Amino acid sequence: MKIAILKEMHPKEQRVAISPDAVKKFTALGADVVIEAGAGLGSAIADSSFQDAGASIAKDAAAACDNADVVLCVQAPTDDQLALIPAGALLVGSLAPLDVTTDLSRYNDKKLTTFSMELLPRISRAQSMDVLSSQSNLAGYRAVIDAVAQFGKVIPMMMTAAGTVPPAKVLVLGAGVAGLQAIATAKRLGAIVSAFDVRPAVKEQVQSLGAKFVEVPAEEADGETAGGYAKEMSEDYKRKQSELIHETLKSQDICISTALIPGKPAPELITEVMLKDMKDGSVIVDLAVASGGNCKSSKLDSIVTKHGVQIIGYSNMPSRAAVDASPLYARNLYNFVSTLMFTKEKTFLVNWEDELITGTLLTKDGATVHPMVSQIKGAAA
Ligand SMILES: NC(=O)c1ccc[n+]([C@@H]2O[C@H](COP(=O)([O-])OP(=O)(O)OC[C@H]3O[C@@H](n4cnc5c(N)ncnc54)[C@H](O)[C@@H]3O)[C@@H](O)[C@H]2O)c1
Repeated sequence: MKIAILKEMHPKEQRVAISPDAVKKFTALGADVVIEAGAGLGSAIADSSFQDAGASIAKDAAAACDNADVVLCVQAPTDDQLALIPAGALLVGSLAPLDVTTDLSRYNDKKLTTFSMELLPRISRAQSMDVLSSQSNLAGYRAVIDAVAQFGKVIPMMMTAAGTVPPAKVLVLGAGVAGLQAIATAKRLGAIVSAFDVRPAVKEQVQSLGAKFVEVPAEEADGETAGGYAKEMSEDYKRKQSELIHETLKSQDICISTALIPGKPAPELITEVMLKDMKDGSVIVDLAVASGGNCKSSKLDSIVTKHGVQIIGYSNMPSRAAVDASPLYARNLYNFVSTLMFTKEKTFLVNWEDELITGTLLTKDGATVHPMVSQIKGAAA
């Protein structure tokens, strides 16, 4: 069993799909791990650290892919990389299957068996494999750090001989995994934090972190689907929500927006009128920018200033914490591959019946087999 890992080629991608710890674990299962030279450098992992853990270093992507059975990746491979992956191999990574620009026929033409980790069912057994959680958590942390770095004001209250500096106010929109970590990070720095979400179930979690939960008084109180995700809300709810966010934003110094609805464009929560009424110099970090943005003025991978408000739109926040993001991502992939593709006797055997396999299996034998994805994108593409 040969497992190959290539250097990530997407711009702004510093992460790598393997860590020295994961190399040791895969090798203990009897796999040969081959890593393209320099693949870990963006995450501060030298080739020698991978070698010390038991991996071989290949001089280029072609050598790494030669005879590979499994290829692990963070983002989808480029066309050039895909051409090197042996037909029929297994590809495991975050393949963004629902992204409009994602062309699944690339995998079907080569009869690759692909697994997209974003599709992993969010059940207890899958928690240790959940790349969305491990990476969103770091994104929430990093969003606050980036906002603070961009901001000309200190965060905690400071009582000095020259006068008192009031604490900064931070509003978090969307209290999922990223939002909860943003709340915790802003609290640790000494900010006064409030948060808003359409799912009332998160109220207790927000309050337990010491933040105030901003609630929309509405008849349609529950914005949660059976799967625990947010659903799209009624027009009446959206209007009330908009008024409340508008009023709250007027007094905030930093806003971290994380609101997403699976399979849909991100809800627009921060309008131009709201920006006009925000304090000069305040900062918004739009973590939903890659899905259209919670603030329409945010711009992918840029910082723009509008009506005196700085809006940060970094598309790949986990990559900005790559030194921690890569080992956590690698651990998620190891847990997935080892649990579902190796037997207790250390032989490679995919458990095709397991719901975690069927939940993530994207393409197989030349067709897109994931029910939801093939319904949206068609079986061939
Ligand atoms: N393995 C597991 O069991 C597991 C792991 C992680 C998360 N989860 C659950 O999955 C769910 C989704 O978490 P996520 O972080 O992936 O969410 P997400 O990234 O899909 O969305 C971020 C947050 O935005 C909120 N949101 C959506 N529309 C909004 C709007 N109009 N206004 C304000 N907020 C809005 C959502 O409710 C969510 O809390 C949560 O219930 C979480 O607890 C389960």
